[in-house]
Amino acid sequence: MRKIFPVSLYNPISVAGALLAGISFGLIIFLMIIETFSAVHKPYMGIIAFVILPVFLIAGLLIIAYGWYREHKRSKQIDFKARKFPKIDLNDPKQLSAAVFFSVGTIFLLLFSAFGSFKAYEYTDSDEFCGTVCHTVMEPEYTAYLNSPHSKVGCVKCHIGEGAGWFVRAKISGSYQLYSVTFNKYSRPIPTPIENLRPAQETCEQCHWPKHFFSEKKVDLDYYLSDEKNTKSSLTLLMRVGGGNNELGNRNGIHWHMNIANDIYYTSTDHTRQTIDWVKAVNKETGKETIYKLKGSTKKVVEGSEEIRKMDCIDCHNRPAHIYNEPSRIINISMSRGIIDSTLPYIKSVATQALDGTYETKDEAQSKISSKITNFYKNNYPDIAKKNGQKIATAIKELQKIYSRNYFPEMRVSWRHYPNNLGHMNYDGCFRCHDGNHVSDDGKVITNDCNSCHVLLAQTTPQKGKQLSMEGLEFSHPGEIEVSFKTQKCSACHGVGNKTLEKKVAQR
Ligand code: HEC
Ligand code: HEC
Ligand code: HEC
Ligand code: HEC
Ligand code: HEC
Ligand code: HEC
Repeated sequence: MRKIFPVSLYNPISVAGALLAGISFGLIIFLMIIETFSAVHKPYMGIIAFVILPVFLIAGLLIIAYGWYREHKRSKQIDFKARKFPKIDLNDPKQLSAAVFFSVGTIFLLLFSAFGSFKAYEYTDSDEFCGTVCHTVMEPEYTAYLNSPHSKVGCVKCHIGEGAGWFVRAKISGSYQLYSVTFNKYSRPIPTPIENLRPAQETCEQCHWPKHFFSEKKVDLDYYLSDEKNTKSSLTLLMRVGGGNNELGNRNGIHWHMNIANDIYYTSTDHTRQTIDWVKAVNKETGKETIYKLKGSTKKVVEGSEEIRKMDCIDCHNRPAHIYNEPSRIINISMSRGIIDSTLPYIKSVATQALDGTYETKDEAQSKISSKITNFYKNNYPDIAKKNGQKIATAIKELQKIYSRNYFPEMRVSWRHYPNNLGHMNYDGCFRCHDGNHVSDDGKVITNDCNSCHVLLAQTTPQKGKQLSMEGLEFSHPGEIEVSFKTQKCSACHGVGNKTLEKKVAQR
């Protein structure tokens, strides 16, 4: 066989290295071609083509070089004084072909690895990488994200943001995460609040300009009680989103008070920031400071201490992309849209119980949701079970779909595990401060007037029919349940820990 390279390259080690490099290179090209032409993206393809195979490729090249060096050393007696660089004589056709082959190859490889590392970088920043590579771990966040208003905004836009510093930090903590996933050391669910989340000014505010909220937002809500008739009531809230711009003069509402006119600082007694015991509002125009304390709290807060947090977007919008819906709320929506038929007796109650049951796995949940509902109608309403089989089947299918988007038993994720701070029904949210119990030394109270954050424009109940008011109605609690809003927070009954509501529903 005619040899085109210097003989010292033809040794078993270098040949093995060449084989390894050659095969890896071929595979990379092959995967890249497939990726270019395939319609669906396969999450693991990128990690193999741009992260794993290049490692083998480079290892192969190093092995070639090592083999060559060893051979070279063996062929000469080690005489350090006489040691010289190998002479390259381009008139020798063998040496010429080796030189051409290596220089062209090296240039090509350099270009290729530059492109490859860019691809690898790009790939580790993609939603696909963040969301699907560690499949079970990120499944809840990825699924919820795909169904959120931010589904077209990349994970990195909120979690990393622009700039090299945050990129490096993210990749360092990412490497730790890779380790913890590989060795099964992560907690389920992933704990929040996320420490060291990039400040909202550098993420949210790159897209949403806080001064630019002027209009109010109308929110229509339908409710179905858990009685036989699934009694319906409706509510229209005008959320006073608000904002402000000195020139346009419209200075009012939630974002105005909480972000623009005031800087708000607080401390909490727990890691999840759910019990807030000290609040300081600093008026940005006058510089006047007001300190509100939770009644009964004697805590002394030292200015500048680390426990003080400055309120930003995330203190209210802590679930902008990963929303795990509470069962009653999401079932109300399906019923209101007619997907779950509200003429089925007790469907609200049965559906809520089936959806929010305790299940170990997804499969168990899917089959039990189906059997619970089927059995309920078979045992209690055999006629309806026969006549309305189709409606019951549709309801079951819808509930299974809702389950797969909102419950992740393998990661222990659901509405019960992550507080939602926007609102006040199931978690204290705004009522962490706006509960009438946060008072300043001169007697000012952080408001809990029901019409300060939203105006109750309209309400329809079976008892009173439709009521309208531009100034705001007084809220009639559905089902005429006696509730003292002055002394009881909604979450006392509607919250995670409370079983009275569940018991009431379950009695039926
Ligand atoms: C609109 C901004 C935004 C986008 C886009 C986004 N996230 Fe989040 N993410 C957040 C916020 C805010 C939190 C909660 C922070 C807190 O409570 O401390 C969070 C929390 C998380 C958590 C912690 C667990 C949890 O559910 O709270 C994980 C994991 C996570 N995100 C992963 C992802 C992944 C993966 C993607 C892309 C598929 C993504 N995020 C896209 C804003 C975002
Ligand atoms: C890369 C741009 C971008 C970033 C960063 C971003 N958002 Fe958004 N946000 C959007 C877009 C686009 C929408 C969707 C608008 C629509 O569909 O109506 C949106 C919608 C919203 C909405 C309205 C949701 C609704 O239900 O209508 C809220 C609230 C919101 N974002 C808050 C945040 C918060 C908080 C952050 C920071 C954690 C953030 N956004 C970061 C682009 C962004
Ligand atoms: C004090 C709590 C609070 C803070 C802080 C806050 N928001 Fe909001 N934001 C709200 C509420 C409440 C709504 C209305 C939500 C609803 O009804 O869906 C809202 C609505 C929005 C919307 C949707 C507006 C619309 O008209 O649809 C966007 C976007 C938004 N906020 C972005 C931000 C950004 C960005 C920040 C940080 C600069 C921020 N918010 C800070 C409470 C807050
Ligand atoms: C960390 C405590 C805290 C939380 C949580 C909080 N607020 Fe506030 N809020 C305040 C303070 C303090 C003021 C009063 C500022 C002042 O002294 O004028 C205020 C004032 C307001 C005002 C003006 C009220 C008025 O006097 O008319 C609105 C509107 C408002 N907040 C909306 C919200 C909404 C909506 C939420 C929940 C999404 C929320 N806030 C959560 C502390 C908080
Ligand atoms: C500090 C601001 C604030 C105050 C005070 C406040 N709310 Fe709300 N309320 C909110 C926000 C924010 C939401 C969430 C809107 C959303 O989910 O889009 C909400 C939602 C609601 C809802 C709909 C809940 C759901 O999930 O179906 C009702 C009902 C309601 N509020 C009643 C009241 C009543 C009654 C009071 C007086 C006791 C009150 N609110 C006081 C901010 C406030
Ligand atoms: C004393 C306990 C208690 C308190 C406090 C309470 N609720 Fe309720 N709430 C109930 C019960 C019980 C039901 C009936 C559930 C059913 O029949 O499905 C209910 C039902 C509702 C419903 C309709 C059910 C649905 O989700 O379809 C809404 C809306 C509601 N409550 C809002 C509120 C708000 C807002 C607050 C706080 C301002 C509040 N509740 C405080 C016990 C309470």
